[in-house]
Amino acid sequence: MIRVALIPGDGVGPEVVREAERVLVACETAGLARIQTTAFPHGADHYLTTGETLSDETFAALRDGFDGILLGAVGDSRVPDGRHARDILLGLRFRLDLFINFRPARLRLPELSPLRCADGRPIDFVIFRENTEGLYTGAGRVEAEGEPGERAVSEAIATRRGVERIVRAAFEFARAEDRSRVTLGDKANAVPHVYGLWRRVFTEVAGEYPAIQSDMQYVDALAMQLVRAPDSFEVIVTSNLLGDILSDLSAELVGGMGLAPSANVNPGRHALYEPVHGSAPDIAGTGTANPMAAILSAALLLRDGGAVEAADRVESSVDAALREGMRTPDVGGSRSTVEVGTWIAERVENGGRL
Ligand code: NAD
Ligand code: IPM
Ligand code: MN
Repeated sequence: MIRVALIPGDGVGPEVVREAERVLVACETAGLARIQTTAFPHGADHYLTTGETLSDETFAALRDGFDGILLGAVGDSRVPDGRHARDILLGLRFRLDLFINFRPARLRLPELSPLRCADGRPIDFVIFRENTEGLYTGAGRVEAEGEPGERAVSEAIATRRGVERIVRAAFEFARAEDRSRVTLGDKANAVPHVYGLWRRVFTEVAGEYPAIQSDMQYVDALAMQLVRAPDSFEVIVTSNLLGDILSDLSAELVGGMGLAPSANVNPGRHALYEPVHGSAPDIAGTGTANPMAAILSAALLLRDGGAVEAADRVESSVDAALREGMRTPDVGGSRSTVEVGTWIAERVENGGRL
């Protein structure tokens, strides 16, 4: 039994999580997995009505009672300081110590890439984004707020332990999945303390994996290279903020935010799955959000939960939907969120036939 906590959240979050849940139910009906879902109301509405962002009680329930959390997105203009989103999303990442943010970028259909050079070249790489340190810890301060001498400091934190475990996870993944190269994305030329540590640790860990090639690229050149030769990458490991930026860029290379799943993981302990995209307020309520990123995130959850056949069938059903033109507008179609989700769920349920 895979116990799943659902946090639909804000904006398009509930719209896409509803479809992912439909697909999970289809896996169950098809006898591919046993799944128990429990919904949590946390998000902007819940915060504005109750004052709760994510209480210690809720946190403990999420920590102790589930094999995986599936989150839609958090972010709402009625909470301008983003407090609830920080407490819920970053709170879970930090408090559950989900140090791996696994963000695959795979071109599922050549025509989905905006790149001319993508034609006929397989794009298939994974970003290992460090998820508990960097500029995201909140460390820092504002001095003399509102005065001419105002000064704001945000500290980037890197620890040897924190860097080593994400770099090692990237190499272990490369070894397990037969990937031949791991690339570090950094900025050691301009930010020597933090990225000097990254480079030293990366070089040490790389030395333990002689069968895997490794290289270090400054992130600006890496971004350029991602557009120029995206098929040359296999595994990219990088810091929290750089990984955030690179993963939106990477999503766009393979069809956009509507297709990009992610997993926040502390292996063997806790995991939170979510689309890379946010609450997309510009299209929320229009019924046009692409549910595929959420559905593919659910597939990552199924795979980690041991339901490999279910995960395979969900992924092949997303591929079939794309091939058959069962697409929302972001990927060139005219179908609705519900139509796409229903079609994928039905295909999962009927054994993978169209
Ligand atoms: P966004 O990812 O929500 O949207 C960026 C663009 O992508 C928009 O044009 C949007 O319409 C489009 N898009 C996103 N998801 C889509 C989907 N499923 N189908 C079709 N198009 C889609 O980024 P943003 O606008 O910068 O952020 C909106 C809010 O979401 C902010 O409050 C932000 O902090 C938050 N956010 C939350 C998460 C999360 O909870 N994991 C992630 C990113 C952003
Ligand atoms: C993401 C999001 C979050 C991040 C925001 C909402 C804090 O952009 O998951 O990519 O920066 O990590
Ligand atoms: Mn992001």
